[in-house]
Amino acid sequence: MVDLKAQYEKIGPEIDCAMKSVLESTAFIKGPDVRLFEEELAQYMGVKHVISCANGTDALHLAMMVLGLKPGDEVITTNFTFIATVEVVALLGLKLVLVDPEPGTFNISAEEIRKAVTPRTRVIVPVHLFGQCADMESIMELARLHNLFVIEDAAQATGAEYIFRDGSKRKAGAIGHIGTTSFFPSKNLGCYGDGGALYTNDDNFARKLRSIANHGMKVRYHYDDIGVNSRLDTLQAAILRVKLKYLSEFNASRRAVADFYDETFAGCLQLASPERAGYSSHIFHQYTIKVKNGKRDELKKYLESQKIPSMIYYPGPLHMQEAYRNLGYGENDFPVTSALCKEVLSLPMHPDMEKDQLDHITSSILKFFDN
Ligand SMILES: Cc1ncc(COP(=O)(O)O)c(C=O)c1O
Repeated sequence: MVDLKAQYEKIGPEIDCAMKSVLESTAFIKGPDVRLFEEELAQYMGVKHVISCANGTDALHLAMMVLGLKPGDEVITTNFTFIATVEVVALLGLKLVLVDPEPGTFNISAEEIRKAVTPRTRVIVPVHLFGQCADMESIMELARLHNLFVIEDAAQATGAEYIFRDGSKRKAGAIGHIGTTSFFPSKNLGCYGDGGALYTNDDNFARKLRSIANHGMKVRYHYDDIGVNSRLDTLQAAILRVKLKYLSEFNASRRAVADFYDETFAGCLQLASPERAGYSSHIFHQYTIKVKNGKRDELKKYLESQKIPSMIYYPGPLHMQEAYRNLGYGENDFPVTSALCKEVLSLPMHPDMEKDQLDHITSSILKFFDN
């Protein structure tokens, strides 16, 4: 699905050099690369503050901690996402309110959010799934109307841009009150282990987030907040500083792969290519097709026989998972999510895909549907 080895071969000498300098400095925790990476990423993102942390799940957790929510406060998010988005809501004793995504873009539906708002709603968490922004302008309008916080889960969309109706643009994660991301190795901006970060333009949130992520400590051994230990290792920050320089180039290569898939599949009626929303650029963390003739699992097996990997993101709706049964949702409450879970298939997608690999993947898929 991804080829981190090919990527390392390309940028290996720079990575080795960055790692060696950290090893020689022995500044493994909160070394200078951490601050420099935060500054460079803030500039790239167009935000005032980047607060790095240990992973993308922690970033979401910290974001919810800083808002001063009370048990039972409602958090609206999409039913079609990775589990991390919802587990932190449950962990903090908040009430998880799931809504269906849009069937075309896979992203949370602003209309479904509008229907789910109650007097107890405090937060909306849009997830910019598979590399494309959710409909942020509509979501921010709703949030303003009801006085809600917006935490953007931008783990899969580092570098994607939202285009507002007046033509101005902002990066995914830089629009809501707080944005979060993950540097899991396979992400568009991934490190060589776990890592994550938060984005905000709010000085108070930034100060408090830095404190909470470091045991609730602003001054050494003085604890103003109840905190956690969630820090980005200096080694990972040094690696990310190198990889950030290549992010735009790598995202453009992914887009070229997606264009090729789109063109090749254009006449194939049994599958739908991912819809591209007019209000967002797409950085194709995943290229996810919908198989329309009920043969998704057969196609997956056929691709395996051709030595072509594929993945189902996501195979089961969150509201039917054992751990979340207590939410009280019924099997048929989320028709869009349930349909997507049966249709979606993500194809290999990374910046180093070769023409012969793409030809093999696309011709195998077209051949399968011909039969
Ligand atoms: C949408 C989404 N949110 C959150 C996360 C959590 O990130 P991490 O694995 O770094 O904890 C991920 C990915 O792993 C993700 O895809």
